[in-house]
Amino acid sequence: MTAALEQHDWSAGLARRTRSLGGGEITAILALAGATDVITFSGGFPDPATFPTGVLELLAKSFTDPGDVVAVEAPTYLGAIMAFRGYEADVRGVPVDGAGMRVDVLADLLAGGLRPKILYTIPDFQNPTGLSLTADRRRDLVGLARRYGFLITEDVAYRELGFGPPVPPSLWSLAPDVVLQAGTFSKIFFPGVRLGWAAGPAEIISRLVVAKQNSDQCSGALGQRMLEEYGRGGHLDRQIITSRALYARRAALTGEALAAHMPEGTTWTTPAGGFYVWVTAPAGIDTVALSAAARDRKVAYVPGRPFYPGDDGATQIRLAYSRVADDLIDEGIRRIAVVLRAAEEEK
Ligand SMILES: Cc1ncc(COP(=O)(O)O)c(C=O)c1O
Repeated sequence: MTAALEQHDWSAGLARRTRSLGGGEITAILALAGATDVITFSGGFPDPATFPTGVLELLAKSFTDPGDVVAVEAPTYLGAIMAFRGYEADVRGVPVDGAGMRVDVLADLLAGGLRPKILYTIPDFQNPTGLSLTADRRRDLVGLARRYGFLITEDVAYRELGFGPPVPPSLWSLAPDVVLQAGTFSKIFFPGVRLGWAAGPAEIISRLVVAKQNSDQCSGALGQRMLEEYGRGGHLDRQIITSRALYARRAALTGEALAAHMPEGTTWTTPAGGFYVWVTAPAGIDTVALSAAARDRKVAYVPGRPFYPGDDGATQIRLAYSRVADDLIDEGIRRIAVVLRAAEEEK
């Protein structure tokens, strides 16, 4: 005799803090990465041709109590918003422009009484805009951290992948007393190795070590040994040089395709490193709604909204050119442009 299993609704039992995390729509779009017939500008995946526990999460676990304010760039890396919200932080956005985070706006917010415990920033070739924080703003930012007593968490995931002028000094090099630098080998070695690093004030690092022990005990020794051998042999340095050339070429091809195909009134960033171009379509376009139409045309992008802690980004798109083959970039951008034009005509 077989009894039919009843469908149980597990979502009713979810902890309150996980209900507002979001990310489901992104998971669905990223799932297309494995599809062979879709040109996917969605995930920020390094190209496997360059190959041979997140510090973020540990920081949120160790340093944020429910309701603590964490300031981030708006837009910023979705994983950071989710990690901080996962520990019930109050995540606040600071706007960005072509020169990175608007440190002057942050200064006004602080003068008005905002008291973040942590400021999370990606100063080099940011995810999702591809833009970098200027040297002047870096100096102003560390000055604010010292004055108001917050910790800057500098995520340097893309710092080594510049293909333009030299990058300005890291925030950590400017102010090791108030900056925690977090890095990952996912973009320059390969993501499956799951290795990163952190450098910062000794007291904070020792807390992160304890948090890591409570999360996954320690990173796998095999991956660490592989990375060590690879680095000591000079291979990582050579891989980074090859990677820069590859991504420079793809960024240029993406820029050319955008100029050739995008409808009037669309703007985009021109990165000097990293994986991303950030596109702003004309007002009234809803890039979340259009992602289904894009999928029908066998192209994928990530819509802008999830990159903001608030409700902005409806007309924006993140394009990751990092893993789209050179000869597919123009066609992929053309398909996205067709979808945007159709939406424009329907307005
Ligand atoms: C800014 C930033 N930090 C961290 C990561 C994630 O790195 P990892 O693979 O080590 O979790 C990403 C991945 O997209 C990222 O864009």
